[in-house]
Amino acid sequence: MPRVRVHQHVNPLSPFYRQEPQPIDIESIFAESDRPLLLDIGCARGRFILKMAEAQPSWNYLGIEIRHPLVDEANRIACDTGLTNLHYEFCNAMLWLGRLLTGMPAGIVQAVTIQFPDPWFKKKHAKRRMVNEEMVETIAEHLAPGGRVFVQTDIEFLADEMFELFRNDSRFEEVEIDSNPFPVKTEREKAVEDRSLPVYRSVFALRRS
Ligand SMILES: C[S@@+](CC[C@H](N)C(=O)[O-])C[C@H]1O[C@@H](n2cnc3c(N)ncnc32)[C@H](O)[C@@H]1O
Repeated sequence: MPRVRVHQHVNPLSPFYRQEPQPIDIESIFAESDRPLLLDIGCARGRFILKMAEAQPSWNYLGIEIRHPLVDEANRIACDTGLTNLHYEFCNAMLWLGRLLTGMPAGIVQAVTIQFPDPWFKKKHAKRRMVNEEMVETIAEHLAPGGRVFVQTDIEFLADEMFELFRNDSRFEEVEIDSNPFPVKTEREKAVEDRSLPVYRSVFALRRS
């Protein structure tokens, strides 16, 4: 089946993407909802978690994406594979991640990945960037103690901006890494590596109090 065609970017501040989502009910989407959950925010076509769901099947995987057709396509593919630990959800994560995760059982979200989010280069578009203070707050509220957030991008100023947001929150502790800790690369990561561009990566662990 041909890949679904979509706009390269959508404006997350336009009225359509400001609509409030329903909180997610993980019992209705995963066969074993009490497994540890990895949240991949801005998952695009979702191939990273598709491969992770096969490679490390003892976890559940939830992809979050703003481009609706990609979510439908990814859920179709997940359904065809028969994997019951994989699901994708349409959500404008810069506004509504907290709403989506309302009611999520404590301790379930054990890992978050934020990989190559759109940089929205122009200064006047900076407000459209996906990672903001509200997102960091939501992740801190829902991540299990000791859980990790993996952030990577090839855009240096965006890496600095995102890392700073996590560094400014004392609930997180930065963990230095020199390579991607996951066994699977995203589509964007492969494209960046093919062009031999640098990748800026970090991990932030939620402190155990
Ligand atoms: C450059 S792509 C990278 C996709 C994937 N993570 C990878 O590394 O291949 C960024 C993705 O984030 C999605 N995205 C951007 N803003 C978003 C938002 N506010 N909420 C959810 N997804 C968003 C885009 O639609 C796009 O699919």
